[in-house]
Amino acid sequence: MKRRLSKAIFPVAGLGTRFLPATKSIPKEIMTLVDRPLIQYAIDEARAAGVREFIFVTSRGKSALEDYFDHAPELEAALRRAGKTELLETLKATNMESGAIAYIRQHRPMGLGHAVWCARRLVGDEPFAVILPDDVIDAETPCLKQMVEAFEETGGNIVAAMEVPPARTSAYGILDIAEDRDPLVAVRGMVEKPAPGTAPSNLAVIGRYILTPAIMGHLNRIKGGAGGEIQLTDAIAREIEETGNVYGFRFRGRRYDCGSKAGFLQATVAFGLARADLGPEFWDYLVEMVAMRRAAQ
Ligand code: UTP
Repeated sequence: MKRRLSKAIFPVAGLGTRFLPATKSIPKEIMTLVDRPLIQYAIDEARAAGVREFIFVTSRGKSALEDYFDHAPELEAALRRAGKTELLETLKATNMESGAIAYIRQHRPMGLGHAVWCARRLVGDEPFAVILPDDVIDAETPCLKQMVEAFEETGGNIVAAMEVPPARTSAYGILDIAEDRDPLVAVRGMVEKPAPGTAPSNLAVIGRYILTPAIMGHLNRIKGGAGGEIQLTDAIAREIEETGNVYGFRFRGRRYDCGSKAGFLQATVAFGLARADLGPEFWDYLVEMVAMRRAAQ
């Protein structure tokens, strides 16, 4: 029997070393694209896909994240007194209802698979989404919502996928395609960061997944055996071997790798330009900047 997706795991326990020194005291997920933290984009996407239970896998030093989702009564009262209703609404939209959000600790950063496994008791015997907040996806229909529609059709595990240039395949998990039924792709395998020239395709997995409870079972078994990092890819690869019940999904939209500095800057430009209140001024500035750089060359 197919079950509705209502839970999402947000693994945010990584060290965020690529953004040091900022991430010495600020969780990566609190860093802002224009004026909203990365985590807000992820939460909004999950909500739009029907998610009602939000599970954060956190670590030491992430308390700013927990505070972010708390109500802020003093701030709300001050904005109300000042008649700043629009700001008040913006602020209230970040509140999470009591009991909708749970925090689980990952004591050591033992990999994404391990972080997901940490949430096993909260997930129970239900399908669940995994959202990596540092992948920000700009899409007309939010990416996870597109995936939920595909999940309702197949009932299988779904991983978001996008074409990457052949020179970039070694930076991603890459799908070995059995049958391409665009946008869904039946897969016969998945290789993590293949050596250059050995990738089975150029279809790369990015940070959105809808997974069945069987994946937790695989993580359980992998955890028993492995000493080092526990990869989510390995658990999905096992499921492909055992049941073949795994699909890639080519989403419609543009993904920004906000876990990297270059990707974060690109997203900042794209989201800044898209804003009605900032876009025109920002555009003029960029045009002037580019002209100055060109003239100086
Ligand atoms: P990354 O590979 O981006 O690692 O993790 P990171 O630690 O966040 O950043 P860098 O590479 O050191 O700069 C992908 C996602 O998996 C989570 C991260 O928080 C991020 O959302 N993760 C990774 C965990 O929750 N636990 C881990 O042990 C590893």
